[in-house]
Amino acid sequence: MMLEVQQVCVDFDAFRAVNDVSLTISSGELLGIAGTNGAGKSTLFAAIAGQQATSTGRIMFQGQDVTSQPVYARARLGLARTFQTPREFARLTVLENLLAAAPNKRYESIFSCWFARNASKRHEQELIQHADEILEFVRLSVVRNQHAGGLSGGQKKLLELARVLMLKPSLIMLDEPFAGVNPVLIGAIVAVLEKLNKQGIALVIVEHHLQALKSFVQRLVVMDQGQILADGDPHLVLEDSRVQAAYMGGVV
Ligand SMILES: Nc1ncnc2c1ncn2[C@@H]1O[C@H](COP(=O)(O)OP(=O)(O)OP(=O)(O)O)[C@@H](O)[C@H]1O
Ligand SMILES: [Mg+2]
Repeated sequence: MMLEVQQVCVDFDAFRAVNDVSLTISSGELLGIAGTNGAGKSTLFAAIAGQQATSTGRIMFQGQDVTSQPVYARARLGLARTFQTPREFARLTVLENLLAAAPNKRYESIFSCWFARNASKRHEQELIQHADEILEFVRLSVVRNQHAGGLSGGQKKLLELARVLMLKPSLIMLDEPFAGVNPVLIGAIVAVLEKLNKQGIALVIVEHHLQALKSFVQRLVVMDQGQILADGDPHLVLEDSRVQAAYMGGVV
């Protein structure tokens, strides 16, 4: 198992947002997570990635207990996430946004720059090349030198994904990658995600857009009121009576 979430609870004062969630994800898997508004999906992501402390339970990643590890330590192990609301640096260019996301910016201190100017230059060129490859991959090369603040909603979603790819992750959790994105661009994002998955990167995708999700994930989890209602084959999960009840029969 790549990721094991064991009986995790997250409390905000007296309110339990994630309630006894257990979930396992294996290497290279493509998992969807759906659920009503406020079901606890984003909070679960934050607990797994380390932005949010858990109240109880344990999170194992690549065989290591990361429950108390900070975000950067989990990222270094290959665990990355995108945010529901894109968090781009609006005044930086698209390329600069990727460079800012890169780990191990070894030559930033004034002394190391002074003593290792050539190595620093080489390292910077490698980062730019890696960033350009990613921009090509997510089809954002045309806006490489534009300010990120001026991108469309869909382009900002792609930029979120591009930024986490700079971390060379083995597991990416995507929080609503299709929200507010036009149908043509949804197809493009799905194609990018499928390509990443074929390269062996495990993907966990939170999405309300069930049609888009069900057509390409191998497994679907549905959450409601902090708990997992169903977990398994997408078509069977959507027929589950508890899932139907949570969506008030509105599942397509
Ligand atoms: N920092 C916080 N402080 C207090 N309550 C919070 C906090 N973050 C989330 N919550 C509450 O926890 C519950 C779960 O929120 P969460 O954002 O995880 O839901 P979600 O499933 O991602 O919903 P959506 O589909 O609307 O994005 C909600 O009731 C929310 O109000
Ligand atoms: Mg959310």
